[in-house]
Amino acid sequence: MKDYWSLFLLVSLWTVSLWNAGAIRTKDKIYYNIQGQKACFRRLNATHQVGCSSNPQGNIGIVHYVRDRSDSKWILEEGPHPPYVMLIDAANFNMDNITSLIESGKVNGILVISANGTVELPPAGFSADKSCPNDGYGLYWNNTVYRRCRQVQWNPPGAAMMFYDFSIPIFLLNNPLEVRYIIDRCYEKYNNPENGTKLHYPMCAAELKDYMNAAKDSVTCIRRSNLITSLSTTTTNFCDPISNNNIIGFLNPKSEEDQLPEKSVIVAGSRLDYMTMFDKVNNSADNPITSIVALLSAAEAIGRFKDDLFKSTVNKTILFAFFQGEAFDYIGSSRMVYDMENGNFPTCVRKSGGVTLCHALHKIGLNHLSHFLEVDQLGFREGQPENVWLHTDPISYNTSISTEIDALVKKIKTIGDQLNITIKESDTSHPLPPSSAQRFLRETTLPVVVLANHENQYTNKYYNSMFDLGELIGVDYIPGGDTEELARSKRVVLLTNIASALAQTLYEEATGESGAHIRANSSIVAQLLYCYIWDSHCSFFHSVLNDEFIDMFKDFQEMDLYSGVKGNAKPLLLITEKVLAYFVGDKVDVNDRDSCMKHSNGIVKANWMQGEGEQGVCVAAPTFLTDAISPAFIIDDYDWHSGQYSTWTESVWMNNAMSVRIFLTSSPSLQVLTLLLGLTLLVVSLAVVYMLVDKADIIFLGCPQTL
Ligand SMILES: *[C@@H]1O[C@H](CO)[C@@H](O)[C@H](O)[C@H]1NC(C)=O
Ligand SMILES: *[C@@H]1O[C@H](CO)[C@@H](O)[C@H](O)[C@H]1NC(C)=O
Ligand SMILES: *[C@@H]1O[C@H](CO)[C@@H](O)[C@H](O)[C@H]1NC(C)=O
Ligand SMILES: *[C@@H]1O[C@H](CO)[C@@H](O)[C@H](O)[C@H]1NC(C)=O
Ligand SMILES: *[C@@H]1O[C@H](CO)[C@@H](O)[C@H](O)[C@H]1NC(C)=O
Ligand SMILES: *[C@@H]1O[C@H](CO)[C@@H](O)[C@H](O)[C@H]1NC(C)=O
Ligand SMILES: *[C@@H]1O[C@H](CO)[C@@H](O)[C@H](O)[C@H]1NC(C)=O
Ligand SMILES: *[C@@H]1O[C@H](CO)[C@@H](O)[C@H](O)[C@H]1NC(C)=O
Repeated sequence: MKDYWSLFLLVSLWTVSLWNAGAIRTKDKIYYNIQGQKACFRRLNATHQVGCSSNPQGNIGIVHYVRDRSDSKWILEEGPHPPYVMLIDAANFNMDNITSLIESGKVNGILVISANGTVELPPAGFSADKSCPNDGYGLYWNNTVYRRCRQVQWNPPGAAMMFYDFSIPIFLLNNPLEVRYIIDRCYEKYNNPENGTKLHYPMCAAELKDYMNAAKDSVTCIRRSNLITSLSTTTTNFCDPISNNNIIGFLNPKSEEDQLPEKSVIVAGSRLDYMTMFDKVNNSADNPITSIVALLSAAEAIGRFKDDLFKSTVNKTILFAFFQGEAFDYIGSSRMVYDMENGNFPTCVRKSGGVTLCHALHKIGLNHLSHFLEVDQLGFREGQPENVWLHTDPISYNTSISTEIDALVKKIKTIGDQLNITIKESDTSHPLPPSSAQRFLRETTLPVVVLANHENQYTNKYYNSMFDLGELIGVDYIPGGDTEELARSKRVVLLTNIASALAQTLYEEATGESGAHIRANSSIVAQLLYCYIWDSHCSFFHSVLNDEFIDMFKDFQEMDLYSGVKGNAKPLLLITEKVLAYFVGDKVDVNDRDSCMKHSNGIVKANWMQGEGEQGVCVAAPTFLTDAISPAFIIDDYDWHSGQYSTWTESVWMNNAMSVRIFLTSSPSLQVLTLLLGLTLLVVSLAVVYMLVDKADIIFLGCPQTL
């Protein structure tokens, strides 16, 4: 009997321990998952890794809300429970405020609270980019007078946080309710070292997870990817080149059979992308949305008179170019220049349906270019003078084309006067601001003018950051989305006039005739601004898409203009191409999609769109996507350290790799106790099993031998 009792006791203990193990599974109730989070992730170039990554299991730390310097001081000097996860307001998130904490090793992760409207922005400005953006890859990279912004510091707030290798995870929190929860129910309740009283466990901790698969640099990670891929049948990537598509569109396109004289193609360009440290942050109002909208509106205005171009004796072609990946060392523009140099421009991305798009267009080389007009940031802030600045390149100015540059500048200024906008010329000894045109000027001489809202440093204090908000340039959220009033606002009228000036200039250069009758449409400008900044599911965007597209994008809550990597659906890229097609294309009189698609040929692409009344409309337009992957990734044996082309890649991460969770944690000594208890139970259970096996014939005595 005694034996049976001890066995009974042991089995009960065992059951209790199993029950205990079951209790651990209630963790799902204890963890609080934060949904509104956007991760900082890792990017790599030929020599460095930048951005963020956690440990594979995630980084854990006690949550500490750092509101002012005394809080950071407390962590550094006292901070009895490291490591910490630092909770910080967006306005306080800058390099100075976090470096000493990270370097102390006491901070294991950072949660940044998104700014709630313009009142919470850092007053001194913030830019994740460098103070001299894209310098090493622009026109002045080895010029002793102009390089490193020796003449003009374009982006003084730029502390290059984007290019820093944070060895810890950083997340942006954008759900105010969840932020309140973390502050009130986690930090204030458990962790606030109120007035020096001693803190007791349990404390509130956060687990930040965003483990990145790639490390070191692009060269290493691509070599590793290729190695694994060649050893196995499945593709394993550790990183992918930052790459996507440029958008191009023509007025008066020339076919292979046509003559294409030298200096007969005018380029009107804008960048298409921006950068932020955090994934899917869609604030990019001034840069680049104002320039995209200005260029699209100019295309619309001149598109109504496109037939005049080939009827004129000048008979030039206009190439609208939206460059992708420019924020990452000019990926799109350097690729277009590379293609032009190799006789491959345009080579258009082939869509399904088997038609090789744009194959019958005349190939364009650098020698065919006649002028380059680029639009830069054109948003205007409260209290800022409403001047448009024309920037030119001082090096070209010292060559034979100086008279052409002067003539172009004079033309734009004259047109500006007629349109009641103040257009000023920046000092001719000043270099060009960071611009796609610089990549063209590296290889050819060309009259280039860049239109911008700034003479010297950017008027946008939040260039390439999560604070480049629409409100700052007069585009507020409108419940219901009716943009009629916005269309009449001073700043939209100004942007419309700038688009008109751009359109008239292009028209005059392309035809040799006056373009005074050409006007951009302020209600289109307002709608575009609103759609890009506030609501990409707006009716205007829907009218240029077909049902399938719209369905496909339904699940995209936020649409952003970050270039991304190949294969990532980037709705705004595709929408922008369609808007351009709508503006420069021809309506074809057919009633269904299939008959529409038959109108694609070597010159134009057919686009089936919903149209404004959703009745369906077919537009045939010479607008296309071209590759915007850096030549570094397509040149055999490219010298990765030559510094000629962008080498940026983005690390791969697993599905569900990104998470932020809040939970209560017991003291480390309690954790050790729990572990010891667990181990004891394990030993006991083993003993039980051993005994059961050993005594099986006694215990199961009553059982029949055969079953
Ligand atoms: C962060 O930096 C700003 C500007 O340098 C400073 O005013 C503020 O006190 C700092 N905040 C913290 C929490 O260190
Ligand atoms: C800059 O680089 C270009 C192209 O490599 C070269 O032709 C030029 O001489 C260099 N200029 C200086 C000042 O080093
Ligand atoms: C890679 O990025 C780092 C950080 O911005 C920079 O210092 C380095 O020069 C870059 N390397 C190349 C090859 O561009
Ligand atoms: C901590 O100090 C502040 C003022 O310094 C006071 O208002 C608050 O009541 C104190 N809290 C506790 C728990 O003592
Ligand atoms: C303009 O060029 C096109 C093709 O190159 C040609 O068909 C057309 O006749 C030209 N227009 C004039 C007015 O010469
Ligand atoms: C030009 O603009 C100014 C300021 O916006 C305005 O006062 C003036 O009436 C305008 N003139 C014309 C001719 O539109
Ligand atoms: C401007 O565009 C809208 C459509 O968005 C159109 O209804 C209106 O008539 C246009 N205005 C002018 C002056 O063309
Ligand atoms: C940007 O993202 C927010 C959600 O974070 C969304 O409400 C908004 O519509 C997005 N803006 C655009 C232009 O898609």
